[in-house]
Amino acid sequence: MTNKNLIDVEAMTTEQIEKVVKRAKKIMQSPADYRHACDGKILATLFYEPSTRTQMSFQTAMLKLGGRTIGFDNPMNSSVAKGESLKDTITIISEYADIIAIRHPVEGTAKAASLYSEVPLINCGDGGHLHPTQTLTDIVTLSCEKGRLDNLKVGLCGDLLNGRTVHSLIKALAKYENNSFVLISTPELSVPLYVIDILEKHGCKYEISHSLADSIGDLDVLYMTRIQRERFKDEKDYQAQKNVFVLDKQKLDKARNDMIILHPLPRVNEITVDIDDDPRALYFKQAQYGMYGRMALIMLMLQDEDFTIATRDNQISEHKCKNPKCVIQSEEYLPRLSYEKLGMEMCEFCDKRLDD
Ligand code: CP
Repeated sequence: MTNKNLIDVEAMTTEQIEKVVKRAKKIMQSPADYRHACDGKILATLFYEPSTRTQMSFQTAMLKLGGRTIGFDNPMNSSVAKGESLKDTITIISEYADIIAIRHPVEGTAKAASLYSEVPLINCGDGGHLHPTQTLTDIVTLSCEKGRLDNLKVGLCGDLLNGRTVHSLIKALAKYENNSFVLISTPELSVPLYVIDILEKHGCKYEISHSLADSIGDLDVLYMTRIQRERFKDEKDYQAQKNVFVLDKQKLDKARNDMIILHPLPRVNEITVDIDDDPRALYFKQAQYGMYGRMALIMLMLQDEDFTIATRDNQISEHKCKNPKCVIQSEEYLPRLSYEKLGMEMCEFCDKRLDD
């Protein structure tokens, strides 16, 4: 099995993150130099959940590097519709492709898939859990637009509970000196405790806020996120949350001139369209940076012997994870892998406590 998988950005060192940024900048400067960098290589994009940017930017990235792509954007058009397990699908695809990019609505699926892949595998989003390549997109954007990855005051606003982009971004930025965070959400959609644990482990300052208008004035970066209808069991709960935080001109007037607005997209209505022309609104440019970040990542994963992302020590647990959103519930053959954190036993797939 390969150990070149990217499941969680937390496992990347700052040197590896910066290697991606540096390579992405080089590609942006002279894309023609990279036109044949991955000649003959095949990327499989296995998208069990809808996507515009992640899937197509990965495909475009491989095409621009001279490689080719296979895959599906609707698992019901594959043998998944006939009941094929994740293990069997990945075992087969990793014989066809040189690298796999996978998105799935169930938490921990990318980690589970990596157990059966013979080729590097990239997590493109696993339920409300993690989205490491969105974070690399965000990091490339910050490096290009703010000129630094440290000493930033970052406001994160919206669905911080289910927002996998937020969880991954906090994990990455917490590695850098003197970054601080303002966590702007309703109490119902506040960040999970394991993310707070990470902030505390790194000694990062953070504030909890329930008001975008009150918090916006002092930020270097505002990271807006969508309230994710698909993560709610009850439509009534979604309706109660959906319009609580909307960035409009009135609120933006309170922000600094050098604050930048990021959003992983898609947007629904949490940023009014009249803000799109404001020079601080960088969310469309951010998606463009993402493609270069993904070109860099594909190259490093396929070609750089030293670009090996560390794996955690884990063991087989006596306990089965009780998180109803964890992949262990649907792919029953999976080993009950766990790791230890602060004396607690955690699920290797979804990062929830096993004794909860
Ligand atoms: N940011 C992001 O993941 O967008 P898509 O869902 O369109 O891929």
